[in-house]
Amino acid sequence: MNHNLLQGKKGIIFGALDEQSIAWKVAEQCTAEGAQIVLTNAPVAMRFGKIHELAEKIHAPVIPADATSMEDLEKLVSESVAHFGGGLDFVLHSIGMSLNMRKKREYTDLNHDWMHKTLDISAISFHRVMQTLWKQDAMNEWGSIVALSYIAAQRVFPDYNEMADAKALLESFARSFGYHFGQRKKVRVNTVSQSPTVTTAGSGVKGFDDFFSYAEKMSPLGNASAEDCARFCAVLFSDYTRMVTMQNLYHDGGFSSMGVNPALLQ
Ligand SMILES: NC(=O)c1ccc[n+]([C@@H]2O[C@H](COP(=O)([O-])OP(=O)(O)OC[C@H]3O[C@@H](n4cnc5c(N)ncnc54)[C@H](O)[C@@H]3O)[C@@H](O)[C@H]2O)c1
Repeated sequence: MNHNLLQGKKGIIFGALDEQSIAWKVAEQCTAEGAQIVLTNAPVAMRFGKIHELAEKIHAPVIPADATSMEDLEKLVSESVAHFGGGLDFVLHSIGMSLNMRKKREYTDLNHDWMHKTLDISAISFHRVMQTLWKQDAMNEWGSIVALSYIAAQRVFPDYNEMADAKALLESFARSFGYHFGQRKKVRVNTVSQSPTVTTAGSGVKGFDDFFSYAEKMSPLGNASAEDCARFCAVLFSDYTRMVTMQNLYHDGGFSSMGVNPALLQ
């Protein structure tokens, strides 16, 4: 079910690690919709992940970049523009990692050096990416920038730990930078607040399976899958959403509007 929504468009996709990654599905969907893509991920993910398999499948170059390194990001953006022979129409930020969660630290007993790292990788990297695009004037007019978020930015999900705070910051960067990009280039910046999804990062959240089935039952439409998310991102990169900017868009089967679902009480 493809509609050539992105015919002629060019973009960078961060965060495809393996076939479960949301970014992997977005890259496949965007290619099927006619886009050309540069894939990127942290250098360490080149060794552990399968990004080169995806690259071969969709005929995309891979340019490694640690999203916390300005030097890497500057190189990524300039090499991508050189590869495409022009500016970018879309960028997906699909990056998340929490050291405290990995090491099973409770929210009331966090290591704050690790918290700095979590905020840098999962949120400040979004500002770094946008600032690099801005300084190199790499976005085309009416371009679209999207980052992936989670509802723990607004509501309390105790097991989501410090990632909740990282997501709140991420969403704020979308609004703040969205203003500047809109004024200068008519470029839009949004976050997509996605349902729990079975991926490497998702499954790293304590109690993920319970979490997943709770949201599945609470949401009238059930959980949105990674493939659903990919289709939504493709629409957000397309010319059909030109006036949507500085928004956090829930893509969650209705979860965010629910209070009580009787299905869960039974
Ligand atoms: N899976 C879920 O339940 C869920 C729900 C809502 C939002 N999200 C968000 O979706 C995004 C993608 O996660 P996913 O679920 O597809 O998991 P994933 O593990 O497949 O993707 C996370 C990616 O972040 C990359 N990354 C980590 N550190 C990096 C660094 N320093 N520089 C560059 N890249 C780095 C990893 O290599 C990986 O590719 C994340 O922002 C995540 O928080 C996930």
